[in-house]
Amino acid sequence: MPLLSWFRRDVDLTRAALAPYRLLRPIAALDYGEKDSPNMIIKGDNLDALKALLPYYAGQVKCVFIDPPYNTRSAFDHYDDNLEHSQWLSMMYPRLQLLRELLSEDGTLWATLDDHEAHYFKVMADEIFYRKNMIGNVIWQHSVQGKNDSKKISLHHNHVFAYQKSDAFTMRKLARTDEHNTNYGNKDNDPRGPWRAGDVRSPNLRENLRYPVETPSGKTILPPPKGWRWKKDVFMEKVKTGEITFLNDDTRVLRKIYLSEQEGRIAESIWFGHEVGTTRDASRELSQVLPDAEIFATPKPEALIQRVLEIATDEGDLVLDSFLGSGTTAAAAHKMGRRWIGIEIGDHAISHCQPRLVRVVDGEGGGISEVTGWSGGGGFRFFELGGPVFDDAGHIQTDITFEQLAAHVWFAETGVPRSSYAEREPFLGKHQGVSYYLLFNGILGDLRKTAGNVLTKRLLRDLHVQEGPKVVYGEACFLSVEELLEREITFKQTPYDIKAR
Ligand SMILES: C[S@@+](CC[C@H](N)C(=O)[O-])C[C@H]1O[C@@H](n2cnc3c(N)ncnc32)[C@H](O)[C@@H]1O
Repeated sequence: MPLLSWFRRDVDLTRAALAPYRLLRPIAALDYGEKDSPNMIIKGDNLDALKALLPYYAGQVKCVFIDPPYNTRSAFDHYDDNLEHSQWLSMMYPRLQLLRELLSEDGTLWATLDDHEAHYFKVMADEIFYRKNMIGNVIWQHSVQGKNDSKKISLHHNHVFAYQKSDAFTMRKLARTDEHNTNYGNKDNDPRGPWRAGDVRSPNLRENLRYPVETPSGKTILPPPKGWRWKKDVFMEKVKTGEITFLNDDTRVLRKIYLSEQEGRIAESIWFGHEVGTTRDASRELSQVLPDAEIFATPKPEALIQRVLEIATDEGDLVLDSFLGSGTTAAAAHKMGRRWIGIEIGDHAISHCQPRLVRVVDGEGGGISEVTGWSGGGGFRFFELGGPVFDDAGHIQTDITFEQLAAHVWFAETGVPRSSYAEREPFLGKHQGVSYYLLFNGILGDLRKTAGNVLTKRLLRDLHVQEGPKVVYGEACFLSVEELLEREITFKQTPYDIKAR
């Protein structure tokens, strides 16, 4: 497969893997609503934040929506959009790798871009997600009014690239509105209800589809020049079920497509501003919800995100936006009953995202509130990036908790995230027949500095260890090699044996 090349690409290939695991530091004063809410705003660089999320959320995110800086070479108030081309690619590559790791097998990533980087993004994303997993390049009409001062062409669209993680993804259908049903009628009072005429001709010439059809009254109708749409047995079955009938004294074929049999509609590749909103609509929405906040240059309309979430997620699914901007994805996801995580590096995480989501929780009525019937509820938690889990010498930071280290050990060993409902006990769980234990921070109740962190025979008895192979992490081990072998224990020393990938 042809690959994109840029300055320092080889360094960027390992940047995600080498980024340190950091802690997420809760800022309780900025939390709002429901106490145990799963929703999170994280202020910080998304490379570190995505890495910090891996031990908890790898393979759990149903939909990633990102609207990264477009690299338009014009500095905005809120972020430096003026990255050099190579720098932009350097910025995106490791983040896309982490985003893919966070996606569930049936998840998708959606990215809005303009012509500056869209085509480079496509080649890069093909490499990371594989070419066969690109499910669409939707054109979103972001502005309607012509721009007569444009130098050559008045620009009205952005690209929305969509990638699935694997074939396990199923695209949901969009709801039908009366506008989509205008072609259906029932002039002949068909008891099956309104219908429209469907095509009966094959789009391509196929000799086996060129057969004459005999009507119930014994007449013969010759095939269209390229043949019928179906093989003869399928055609005759449709005559039997009434889907195909004959008109004009049995000289014409009519196929009826019934409205009652249409379940929603498939999303199309052009999304018009009057359906999903424009940039102007987005700015209006934002200024209504945050009338006193500084103007934010590039918000997206809530209805655009709604469209993506409607076809890519169900209620309760987890949605992630790692370039949160003014918080649109979180606002739309919240109003649609999805769980969400938003990451934003700029101060507008506090000046825009947090207050916007407070208002959403309180039931603000703008954006998609009316169409989704949103009246308030739920909540979110606010985090900043904390220090790395391990320092440069490989020592565990002193303020790390048992839960935090347990998440890292479990993820490093199994590649799957640790449940946030997991019990606070040395037995972390069993994965593919192997049981994992962590002795850390006096987990067994003995609060002396190293107590309970050393594997001894007595402690082993207290642990009531499982049958079969086990891996035990601790600061030291007082069992002999023979004793470990006999008990099927692999001892690993903290912190040196914890792989911070
Ligand atoms: C185009 S804006 C997103 C706008 C958003 N869709 C909305 O509706 O408001 C891109 C955002 O990405 C943020 N950003 C850029 N680099 C980032 C990084 N490394 N980590 C986290 N956020 C970043 C910028 O601060 C900016 O707010």
